[in-house]
Amino acid sequence: MSAGALPGFRDFYPEQFAERAWLFEVWRRVARRFGFVEYDGPPLESLELYTKKSGDEIVGQLYNFKDKGDRDVALRPEMTPTVARMVAAKANALRKPVKWFSIPQLFRYERQQKGRLREHFQLNVDIFGEADVSADAELLAVACEIMRECGLGPDDVRARVSDRRLLTALLRALEIPASSDAAVFAAIDKIERIPRGHPLWESAWTGIPATTVDRLLGLVESSDLDAMAREFAHVPDVAGVVDRMLRYRSLVEAHGVGEYLKLDLKIVRGLAYYTGIVFELFDAKGQMRAICGGGRYDNLLEALGGVDMPALGFGMGDVVLSDLLRERGKAPATPARLACWVAPKDDRAYVRAVNVAAELRRRGLATDYPLRTQSLSKQVKVAADAGAGRVVFVGDIGDVEVKTLADGSQTTMSLERLYDSLENDGNSDSTGATDHP
Ligand code: HAM
Repeated sequence: MSAGALPGFRDFYPEQFAERAWLFEVWRRVARRFGFVEYDGPPLESLELYTKKSGDEIVGQLYNFKDKGDRDVALRPEMTPTVARMVAAKANALRKPVKWFSIPQLFRYERQQKGRLREHFQLNVDIFGEADVSADAELLAVACEIMRECGLGPDDVRARVSDRRLLTALLRALEIPASSDAAVFAAIDKIERIPRGHPLWESAWTGIPATTVDRLLGLVESSDLDAMAREFAHVPDVAGVVDRMLRYRSLVEAHGVGEYLKLDLKIVRGLAYYTGIVFELFDAKGQMRAICGGGRYDNLLEALGGVDMPALGFGMGDVVLSDLLRERGKAPATPARLACWVAPKDDRAYVRAVNVAAELRRRGLATDYPLRTQSLSKQVKVAADAGAGRVVFVGDIGDVEVKTLADGSQTTMSLERLYDSLENDGNSDSTGATDHP
């Protein structure tokens, strides 16, 4: 039996756990700043929840099995069907718009590669009950503000946005039959991975004149909204969607994240339930897998819960984002573990030192001391490695000496003064560490 974790699964040693905890804090902080509230659902769901609407790609990656009650079940590969089911079940009772977020661990039996594992954590941010494009803009703003909070600007990350309705309207305007939609969408989705001329690519265009294909691909490639507005002003279906996109763009700019935005009709999204504006965040060099993906899925609540309610959301995984942060040197420094180290000067001082440490802990300071007597120089080294700001040297009676590790200064004081001064330090309930480099 192998001693390691299963392929595609991760062990989080404290250093990696600290990185993950830092990212979760950023996610929670920004989501809450936008007025979203946190929820969770079960990690195991009925298989049917995914086979109904998620699409073949994700269904092919399910970790599914029969439970002991002979039910077909699956570990959740995504959060959207769960949250759609939860919201649909209480649709009448919930005040709209519903703005929820969650950080589930998800499981997909993928081919393991850079940026793709068999488990990952994914921030899900979703809005229910608002059909207006204002909600789409709000959603993109959350994703971009998270990038900003991580120290990633528009030079590092781009938000590529499309609208499935725009692509559909263009197909109709170019007289491409609706029966080709699925194949054409799939081909455009793979445009960057499968070169033109590949048999898979060519089969999507059967029966469509080459000049039409070229025209469509030209529009997709340029993704120029203003040019489309001019060219298709006389085609109401296209003009309507273009107008909505123009309003979306001005709202995204109003949110102060317009610089991240790039209209790109090549973004189709693999999941089957999207109905409107869809988007993905990528590293600006385009070298990594998507950091984040989402969009509008107005029909999913109807399909899963019989409730007619517009919905939209995104999922942002921890794997690609952490890789990117590491690559750009923006990964958080390992946080300090301690505020204080209490150093008994000798065996006779040991019990008193334990008592001092206990008092400091009760006052909310992360404090440690040696579990067996050690030399003072060793203790100072251990304290520094743990990031402790101060070492308190304790004898068996009398005052204590407090050494500040940053500058090496040392002060003698009574225990009462020590407790007061540390409490007034603003260090309570923390290690005193900052959370970002
Ligand atoms: P998705 O595009 O399948 O969308 O996943 C969203 C993000 O999760 C991806 O951009 C990627 O960062 C991360 N991710 C997905 N699969 C893996 C994997 N195997 N390993 C590492 N990271 C991964 C959804 O899941 C939608 N349910 C998102 C959504 C929420 N749409 C509406 N609301």
